Amino acid sequence: MSKVTVVGAGNVGATAANVMAIREVADEVVMIDIKEGVSEGKAMDMMQTANLLDMNTRISGVTNDYEATANSDVVVITSGIPRKPGMTREELIGVNAGIVKQVTESVLKHSPNAVIVCVSNPMDTMTYLIHKVSGLPKNRIIGMGGALDSSRFKYYLSKALGANPNEVEGFVIGGHGDTTMIPMRRFATLRGIPCETLLDKETMDKVVADTMVGGATLTKLLGTSAWYAPGAATAEVVEAVIHDQDAIIPCSALLDGEYGEKDLCIGVPCVLGKGGIKKIIEIDLNAEEKELFAKSAAAVHKTNEALPC
Ligand code: NAI
Ligand code: 2OP
Repeated sequence: MSKVTVVGAGNVGATAANVMAIREVADEVVMIDIKEGVSEGKAMDMMQTANLLDMNTRISGVTNDYEATANSDVVVITSGIPRKPGMTREELIGVNAGIVKQVTESVLKHSPNAVIVCVSNPMDTMTYLIHKVSGLPKNRIIGMGGALDSSRFKYYLSKALGANPNEVEGFVIGGHGDTTMIPMRRFATLRGIPCETLLDKETMDKVVADTMVGGATLTKLLGTSAWYAPGAATAEVVEAVIHDQDAIIPCSALLDGEYGEKDLCIGVPCVLGKGGIKKIIEIDLNAEEKELFAKSAAAVHKTNEALPC
């Protein structure tokens, strides 16, 4: 029996739970929130789709009852506040650090062997905080940001190419921030054909720029941050772990010398499977990419300095 807990049954948490249930990522999904009734209500609503969607996952919801989350294989942390239009992810640190610390301690009391997937923002810094608070082996903590940013990159590439998004490959590394993420234009392809040979430089520059502010664009339209793609991207990461897929997904991982960085969580291509991060793939970055990565890492280090621990 596989079990996933989702902490925070808000927009992203509930969407992730729903996608995981529909895709039957795990046998059991538990949502937990501090708001009375929200997890219970959303779980009941989702379970009422079981016969409509031929879904076999069992979804339940609880308020503050960590006993119900016991022995989870994966715990997803989405609890915390999202940004409002005009806010950066970094501005959320004060409130979210307290929430993420308390939640990490609570979930680990009941699921000491779980892999933790961090979604709460500023995500790279919250992932780093979970390492500091938990002392878990570094492979067991995964920050979800690159999966989402890469999907947005592929979306904007597909629009520019006039192509089916499923035919496009591409990935984003670096921090999960408007100015820190690095869409890897050199490696983007349409079924193996380099996108840089199909799009002119100006168009490619715009695809990269739109990807970097992809979250902010949606926050402006919605009045809060997005949830469909963030929820689906979270489910993709959890699925890779639970189903031991050896899937290569960019995630925020604790670096220990890789890409010339130490004591930092930042987006890099990771092989995900049983136990979490099985391997970090080190790409041979060119001079320009190295400079972008170093700048991104410096910005994430700076945000980490604002942590209370
Ligand atoms: P939301 O406000 O819809 O949901 C957050 C939920 O967390 C609420 O239901 C709230 O009651 C709950 N919560 C707060 N404190 C809690 C605690 N101590 N224990 C349990 N639950 C608690 O927010 P949304 O849109 O779901 O976003 C959640 C977080 O995810 C935000 O920090 C947001 O910035 C981040 N995010 C990260 C993305 C990424 O790619 N890493 C993408 C999208 C959002
Ligand atoms: C997003 O990228 C705000 O991290 C959130 O949608």
